[in-house]
Amino acid sequence: MKWFFALAAAAVLATGASGVPAQPSEQSATELATGVCSACHGPKGQSISSVFPNLAGQQANYIVLQLDAFRSHERGDPNARAYMWGMASQLSDAAIKGLADYYAAQKPAPGEVGDKTVMVEGAKIYDEGIAAQGVPACASCHGKDAQGNGAFPRLGGQHADYLVAQLQGFQTGTRVNAPIMTAVVRTMSPEQIRAAAAYAASK
Ligand code: HEC
Ligand code: HEC
Repeated sequence: MKWFFALAAAAVLATGASGVPAQPSEQSATELATGVCSACHGPKGQSISSVFPNLAGQQANYIVLQLDAFRSHERGDPNARAYMWGMASQLSDAAIKGLADYYAAQKPAPGEVGDKTVMVEGAKIYDEGIAAQGVPACASCHGKDAQGNGAFPRLGGQHADYLVAQLQGFQTGTRVNAPIMTAVVRTMSPEQIRAAAAYAASK
């Protein structure tokens, strides 16, 4: 990956003498997104690999919080460290805001409906929670259509495998800076995690 970071860093640096312009115009956020971030997150924020989350249609507020958390090293799961710590270290507050607005305005990826049994189990968990295990309804924060709201991320149209990996990260403590989600997933089985993720992603 070394070559990649060298290239990406050069591209970021080329946008301004001090890394990123202090007050990037809308255009320079677009340039960063299409020239640097797109290598992993895809053109217009729809990526081809589930290692790289889709950013299209993500909540702007959530994107700002995550880029801040990468920059401050608070979000430190292995892929965050490997891919996003370096990226975020190059970004000013103004660049972060511009990128968040850019991605929030892109069209979300269409959700993919999977195996019927899994969808039914996932829908139940998503809409109602699992009372016996103290798991709250995902819809109460992420929205009925998994579109998210403010600091609550969009899950609809996300790669299901990415969502599973994040839920495992909350559960095992590698993505440690999210106390709400750590509590939500505490008692969920791997099967329940997969079903809820697959259903949310399908929206
Ligand atoms: C070399 C590949 C790579 C590049 C380039 C890259 N990212 Fe990422 N990004 C990732 C990976 C991998 C993750 C998932 C990290 C994890 O699993 O915790 C991620 C996660 C994110 C997230 C969190 C999304 C979520 O749903 O929580 C945001 C926001 C983000 N990246 C924004 C950006 C922006 C903006 C840029 C350009 C300045 C960028 N990324 C460039 C690989 C990359
Ligand atoms: C009480 C509110 C709340 C409930 C209920 C909730 N979440 Fe979350 N969820 C959050 C917040 C806040 C975040 C952002 C965490 C952070 O800041 O890193 C999040 C993040 C996530 C992420 C990471 C998304 C990404 O792009 O990286 C996944 C996956 C997720 N939630 C799935 C679920 C599922 C599945 C359920 C139901 C079993 C659920 N959530 C219930 C508040 C909630």
